[in-house]
Amino acid sequence: MAQNWTPNSWRQKPIQQVPDFPDMAALNATEAQLATYPPLVFAGEARRLKNQLANVSEGKGFLLQGGDCAESFAEHGADTIRDFFRAFLQMAVVLTFGAQQPVVKVGRIAGQFAKPRSSNIEKQGDVELPSYRGDIINGIEFNEKARIPDPERQIMAYRQSAATLNLLRAFAMGGYANLENVHQWMLGFVKDSPQAERYRKLADRISETMDFMKAIGITSENHPSLRETDFFTSHEALLLGYEQALTRVDSTSGDWYATSGHMIWIGDRTRQPDHAHIEYCRGIKNPLGLKCGPSLTGDGLIELIDLLNPQNEAGRLTLICRFGHDKVAEHLPRLIRAVEKEGRKVVWSCDPMHGNTITLNSYKTRPFERILSEVESFFQIHRAEGTHPGGIHIEMTGNDVTECTGGARALSGADLADRYHTHCDPRLNADQALELAFLLAERMKGGRDEKRMVANG
Ligand code: PEP
Ligand code: CO
Repeated sequence: MAQNWTPNSWRQKPIQQVPDFPDMAALNATEAQLATYPPLVFAGEARRLKNQLANVSEGKGFLLQGGDCAESFAEHGADTIRDFFRAFLQMAVVLTFGAQQPVVKVGRIAGQFAKPRSSNIEKQGDVELPSYRGDIINGIEFNEKARIPDPERQIMAYRQSAATLNLLRAFAMGGYANLENVHQWMLGFVKDSPQAERYRKLADRISETMDFMKAIGITSENHPSLRETDFFTSHEALLLGYEQALTRVDSTSGDWYATSGHMIWIGDRTRQPDHAHIEYCRGIKNPLGLKCGPSLTGDGLIELIDLLNPQNEAGRLTLICRFGHDKVAEHLPRLIRAVEKEGRKVVWSCDPMHGNTITLNSYKTRPFERILSEVESFFQIHRAEGTHPGGIHIEMTGNDVTECTGGARALSGADLADRYHTHCDPRLNADQALELAFLLAERMKGGRDEKRMVANG
């Protein structure tokens, strides 16, 4: 076990991004109640994800991580979950085909409720109120009452996570993810988009292959991998009281695990090495993500890796790089070199969302071409450094929203007002997410052909 660590040792450290709970007794009571509730995920599942990520760190797989910026109580429902899962499966199939490698599937879902904010205050006109910090903490409505942090929301977030996870497990294991359904995963509004034709062609090839396999006796009845898929959950471990309440000892290994989700990550604003969030995360055994933004130095990164992964265990740590399309070339190579020089095992993942946010017509948005550009640079830089571009981390939804500009339908600044629903950052809609998957698949195929040419001399 990590030295001098306990599930509450983070409470002795300085901490960022803490909500102002007016009633500490109520907060303590809620945390005590949560501590008696069943775990949402099991240690064995987190270990399974860690093993899959270990393969990715060795160049034998690709991580697809995505979902809402912030889940909301208002949007909780079967259709939202199903549409997200469909869009996600479509992306995964496109990537598996492109990379000819296993795709590790991790949702930003079933626990992604707490948000770090750059300002404690939101101003509208002359009125100033505490910022919205995610549905697990306070309400998004711009009035004084809604913005007061309410511990009861943690119980609601827990219950919503449990219900969401239950449906996701059913989808992943109960037949919905069966590859025989590859045509049915097309979403209604994607059907007439330019991506639809490409997807249909790919789905035809998969169906043809499945027919061939069936003819020689390999069917989804006798091969579970054709009808089931592993799907894991993840969120930012920001609200540490909630995380602590769901931290449990695994009876088989005696190790501590966060049971709020399979993978948790540390945000770019809360990764100070001597602060609370790093302290909490270093002691649990789940796979961890670490957001890496422009202010992270090579030495700073190695210091964090020493704390979070002192045994250099493959699959433990995923570096989620979020520099911005115009900054990635300046920052990524130096981090890759620092990690390579020290021989640290990591998964390199690209978050092309958080460094590319702009304001347009008073909406926070992200131009799709900047997202693609950061992804392109990420791949090029890894090819040049001889390292594996191991994954992508995106904010997306299965709904037909208008939050990011651009893409094949060329959404403009004027379109943003149509269906702008996000509770926090702008997400790719299913159409844009699929377009991104096709681009990634092409890049991965390119890398594969290159490797083959080198191997064949
Ligand atoms: C996020 O992933 O929603 C987020 C806040 O990211 P970052 O910590 O990289 O800014
Ligand atoms: Co976000």
